[in-house]
Amino acid sequence: MKKDTGQKRDVTSKWRLQTQLVRGGTWRSEMGETSEAIFMTSGYAYDCAEDAAARFAGDQEGYTYSRLRNPTAAMFEDRMALIEGAEAARSTATGMAAVTAAMLSIVKAGDHVLSSRALFGSCRYVIETLMPKFGVDFTLVDGADHDAWQAAFRPNTVAVFLETPANPTLDVVDIEFVSSLAHENNALVVVDNVFATPVLQKPLEMGADVVIYSATKHIDGQGRCLGGCILSTDALMAETILPFLRNTGPNISPFNAWVMLKGLETLDMRVERMCQNAAKVADALAEIKGFDFVKYPGRKDFTQHELAMKQMSMGGSILALHVPGGRDQAFKFLNALEIIDISNNIGDAKSLMTHPASTTHASVAETARAELGITEGLLRLSVGLEHPDDLIEDLHKAAHMANIGSQSQS
Ligand SMILES: Cc1ncc(COP(=O)(O)O)c(C=O)c1O
Repeated sequence: MKKDTGQKRDVTSKWRLQTQLVRGGTWRSEMGETSEAIFMTSGYAYDCAEDAAARFAGDQEGYTYSRLRNPTAAMFEDRMALIEGAEAARSTATGMAAVTAAMLSIVKAGDHVLSSRALFGSCRYVIETLMPKFGVDFTLVDGADHDAWQAAFRPNTVAVFLETPANPTLDVVDIEFVSSLAHENNALVVVDNVFATPVLQKPLEMGADVVIYSATKHIDGQGRCLGGCILSTDALMAETILPFLRNTGPNISPFNAWVMLKGLETLDMRVERMCQNAAKVADALAEIKGFDFVKYPGRKDFTQHELAMKQMSMGGSILALHVPGGRDQAFKFLNALEIIDISNNIGDAKSLMTHPASTTHASVAETARAELGITEGLLRLSVGLEHPDDLIEDLHKAAHMANIGSQSQS
């Protein structure tokens, strides 16, 4: 096999998104494979001891150990960097590994972190529970409240963490506003872009410093593998994030990186179709009298519609709905679904619905859930690639079985 020196990868940023998604970062071995090779290896052999020493000294390009870098993971990372417009990317075993590594590599004891309060349950844990264990203080703010952001910065604020749209309430944060405020206060901005995907929203272009993904979601998109990715500038990666990653080892497996590479090839098409389906499903659900609300960023009646559509090219694949009858009615509705699965994942080809208060956000304190609007009647729907009319029929039937209002249209 030829040695992968990193020189032969197609890392051109001149290509359009769809070409980058299919070909970006690809490196071919001497076998000339069309599909990216899976380098299922933990270590690498050297032609001579001098080569090993030179590679460890950084005087020779090439791989040394897969915790430090692996060719298949590197292809995934280079492709992610291209599509995000980032200088550097590193992959991780899960989205939470990406969040944790990005945040822990930035902070030290005595620092303060600022975050929007509407976060995925495990992200809240990292900010609220994990950080304070290591002497890092935090403040959570209502992400839509500009005054609250402004007032919360302290001289020792080093990082801002935000999720937009947030899981599961779909709260949107103005990335440009928060980033410029953070930079005035010498703080870095880390954006969890999982709900928006790299196809719909580009936080780095709006001023963010770090973007993280759970590749488990739309990037795989077919419910097979866990994975994550951190994207940033070269300097931030080299000086701050890489030392943490290289020494703590939250790596993605080469096989999962390969699955993610194959997922990226169809990401644009899948996300576009999911958004189209989600828009149709949201409109149909809004016609059913009986839900307290149907929230979808792409609909004009979404409170932050204007900001959502300024930041995202489409409305996304996820919506939130609320039944008046609390947990009982929410469970009846879920249990009556025949096509849509009861499942807490998102971004899958299969449409999935969950009850956040008893699943993804069960670990968030009840008072915090109430503050966020994650009440017993809230349901989150991740719309997949099925025919939207089948999904709408499934939802109509389940609504009827759960006695959710009268339906003005069927
Ligand atoms: C917004 C958001 N961020 C991060 C994660 C964590 O991703 P993973 O499950 O790959 O660790 C999730 C998972 O649901 C999520 O919804």
